[in-house]
Amino acid sequence: MRLVLVGPPGAGKGTQAQYIASNLSIPKISTGDIFRANVSGGTELGKLAKTYMDRGDLVPDEVTIAMVRDRLAEDDAQDGFLLDGFPRNVSQAEVLRDMLKDWGQTLDLVLELVVDDEEVVRRLAGRRTCSQCGRIWHVEFDDKKDDICDACGGRLFQRDDDKEETVRHRLEVYQEQTAPLVSFYVEEDILVGVDATGPVEEVTQRAMEAIRPYMG
Ligand code: AP5
Ligand code: MG
Repeated sequence: MRLVLVGPPGAGKGTQAQYIASNLSIPKISTGDIFRANVSGGTELGKLAKTYMDRGDLVPDEVTIAMVRDRLAEDDAQDGFLLDGFPRNVSQAEVLRDMLKDWGQTLDLVLELVVDDEEVVRRLAGRRTCSQCGRIWHVEFDDKKDDICDACGGRLFQRDDDKEETVRHRLEVYQEQTAPLVSFYVEEDILVGVDATGPVEEVTQRAMEAIRPYMG
């Protein structure tokens, strides 16, 4: 199964990706996570990406595409993958389509997680991420009173780009650059929208029901 998750910042892409990828036994490839790992590792890629991420802008296409191409070429991605955060504009989508075509592959499905802006701001303001296992938590919805990950004991942190004004800019970038992907994939006839409001488990159930007809 080759799957893409699209949706505004805070829609729950990373949260749902953990469960969907594990249900389908495919690797979860989150471009935001790969960039953040490079930022904490102090790599050249991380230094470059950080200047864009801190503003809430997209990292330039050539850098992002090269990184995704390398990741998709790895062994574990040959029989399927779940992309979270890529593609993020129409030119990335065109490159992905052509790259997969060269490898004799096609995307099976693009899931669009649908939530409104008000919910996005609520979700991002309370988000905490585990520095050790990457698991995503929410202070209010998961009733997190300490900053320790209940899954692995690691320390939780708040993302630099979750400041209110950066969130607002990320939403604008989404509307301008990423939202056009919806009609791109409607035309390719592989887009399915999923209501991403309500409890996490219900969203996962809706997503799995949407995926089932596309499973080989
Ligand atoms: P990225 O890390 O992809 O950020 P994003 O798209 O803005 O999305 P988020 O990770 O903020 O939200 P999410 O949808 O994953 O929500 P989550 O599950 O965490 O990208 C960051 C940056 O990297 C970009 O700005 C850009 O600079 C760069 N970048 C990445 N990819 C790129 C690309 N392809 N090209 C160029 N640049 C790129 O959930 C949010 C919160 O809500 C959590 O606290 C969670 O616990 C909670 N929550 C989730 N679901 C629910 C629910 N159902 N009910 C209640 N709370 C919930
Ligand atoms: Mg995410």
